[in-house]
Amino acid sequence: MTEPRSDVLVFFGVTGDLAYKKIFPALHAMSRRGVLDIPVVGVGMSDYSVPQLIERARASITEYGGGVDEAAFSSLASRLQYVRGDYRDPAVFARLKAAIGTSTNPLHYLAIPPSHFPLVVGGLDQSGCATDARVVLEKPFGRSLQSARDLNKVLHAVFDESEIFRIDHYLAKEAVQNLLYFRFANAFLEPVWNRQYVESVQITMAERFGVTGRGKFYEETGVVRDVIQNHLVQVIGFLAMEAPTSAYPEAIRDEQAKILKSIRPLDPVQFVAGQYDGYRQEEGVAPGSKVPTYGAISLEVDSWRWSGVPFFVRAGKSLATTATEVIVKFKAPPRVVFKEAAPAMGNYVRFRLGPDVVIALGASAKKAGEAMAGQATELSLVRQKDADERDAYDRLLGDAMMGDASLFARQDAVEAAWAIVDPLLDLDREPEPYRPGTWGPLAADQLTDRVGGWNTPS
Ligand code: BG6
Repeated sequence: MTEPRSDVLVFFGVTGDLAYKKIFPALHAMSRRGVLDIPVVGVGMSDYSVPQLIERARASITEYGGGVDEAAFSSLASRLQYVRGDYRDPAVFARLKAAIGTSTNPLHYLAIPPSHFPLVVGGLDQSGCATDARVVLEKPFGRSLQSARDLNKVLHAVFDESEIFRIDHYLAKEAVQNLLYFRFANAFLEPVWNRQYVESVQITMAERFGVTGRGKFYEETGVVRDVIQNHLVQVIGFLAMEAPTSAYPEAIRDEQAKILKSIRPLDPVQFVAGQYDGYRQEEGVAPGSKVPTYGAISLEVDSWRWSGVPFFVRAGKSLATTATEVIVKFKAPPRVVFKEAAPAMGNYVRFRLGPDVVIALGASAKKAGEAMAGQATELSLVRQKDADERDAYDRLLGDAMMGDASLFARQDAVEAAWAIVDPLLDLDREPEPYRPGTWGPLAADQLTDRVGGWNTPS
């Protein structure tokens, strides 16, 4: 790797929720592995002293990082500095510049609301803190296609695309990477991975829990912005894209962007929105909210390989279970040879992306006995209990420090993903109600009727 390694980590929003739930635990994990050897400068608006910040880090790691390793923690604590102030005040950036000291390649993590990005990016630029720097930001990258373009303009005024690291933590998931690996490290899938053999593709992202205290955030996002535009569209890209010419990051990202651009913008008739009973009573949620907590869509990929193959995607909160699963279902054999009907599920490849990892092939085989009767069998090729041995944030922060953008979303792919879902945003439509603990509104069933219904992950 010829890229220079970042030599100071600056994170804005150090006293916020994301820092508490994800970033401190990730820094602690990195410290435990001995790979956090640079200063960490937190920037925030709250009135904290460094000892108070260290206490907050300890509480965060205790609650979300699986417990404190004292040696790793004291190494992390010794690196922490705090710069306090209002981002509108240029003096904050002057203090930050002083805190950065002689470091020459800062990594700025913007764990702050997107509405603050222009101020912070401008402040970094004017104070000289953006020189030879990298910037990391969190999804959602904008709220629509237009606002994503506007955001990219703000960033590109100061940073080159190669210096921008957009986190979509799904890209760093072991199971999602294995999906990509499995597709292109084997020859047997390629001949059947197309419209000649594939009948349909389904992706379900089910979560048993509701908005769990994030009502205010969710009111501004809803299911399409929260997980479909980013996580699930990225998964579709990995399932459908052409083989990259190499493992070089830009080769993979080129193919990903290309396939996303070939997905037609969705028509609202291809979308069923749902809302779980009780959502409107959650804290921070408007009593008459029309924000969907469930979304089901059917889409088409306009490519030579996939033309005519329906892709179905559904995601929701307060569903029957927590599981994310992809089923690529193959067409039935051209003729029924044996009178005894084969099991309905037929042939498929199943990628379980979470909470565990499974890659399995489904087939029909003969049931023991005289009759030529079939039964469904499944061959697991991969089966791992925990999806992620290393937390996605730990991995992504390390990659951003090295300047390795492979697992980050690129501008053109992000904008292509917004273009797909843009027609579904802010529809003034009453979502279909559903009971918590079910599989969402019945109206979503009609989308998949023609392919035998939704796959139900166990
Ligand atoms: C986040 C969403 O991006 O992804 C959450 O904001 C969702 O609403 C989460 O629960 C799911 O990620 P994971 O890794 O827990 O499956």
